[in-house]
Amino acid sequence: MHIDKLEKNWAGISLGIAGLFVTVILGSAFLHGIHAPSNVETIDSAKLHLSAEFAEDKLGAHRNANGSITVRMVAGRYGFYPKELTLPAETEITFRWVSLDVIHGVHMPMTNMSTMIVPGYVAQVSTAFHHAGDYPVLCNEYCGMGHAHMWSNIKVVSKAQWEALNKQGGANHG
Ligand code: CUA
Repeated sequence: MHIDKLEKNWAGISLGIAGLFVTVILGSAFLHGIHAPSNVETIDSAKLHLSAEFAEDKLGAHRNANGSITVRMVAGRYGFYPKELTLPAETEITFRWVSLDVIHGVHMPMTNMSTMIVPGYVAQVSTAFHHAGDYPVLCNEYCGMGHAHMWSNIKVVSKAQWEALNKQGGANHG
């Protein structure tokens, strides 16, 4: 079968572009920890205040035995709770999110934190902050009139500073 040289060249270019896209997707997935949501865990959104994990006094950062941190947060119209949170840099942090009303999204620019928070499910994302500073937490799923105002802030401090804060104040809820 004869294939024109020009056709061959363009076929090569098209395949090359497709290959480049696949490489970029796989590269981002492995280098930036991007992955499809896979944590299928259900919870009764109407009874969060009675749940063992997401009652008000259980929210915030909790240190695990291996030094990692689990953060439990609730999204609701129109805010992320707890409203104020301080976390350490250079530490593995697993966020567990639940919604108390409708579907929200959470996005933290410059991190791999971006997930939908669907009522009835626990959304889980692991991340680490490499630099101290203020990280905005934004809702990126339209959830009602106040959607544009649904955001909060997470303050990241150095590991040493965080340890000092938590020695003075006991468990870190805020
Ligand atoms: Cu919550 Cu938009």
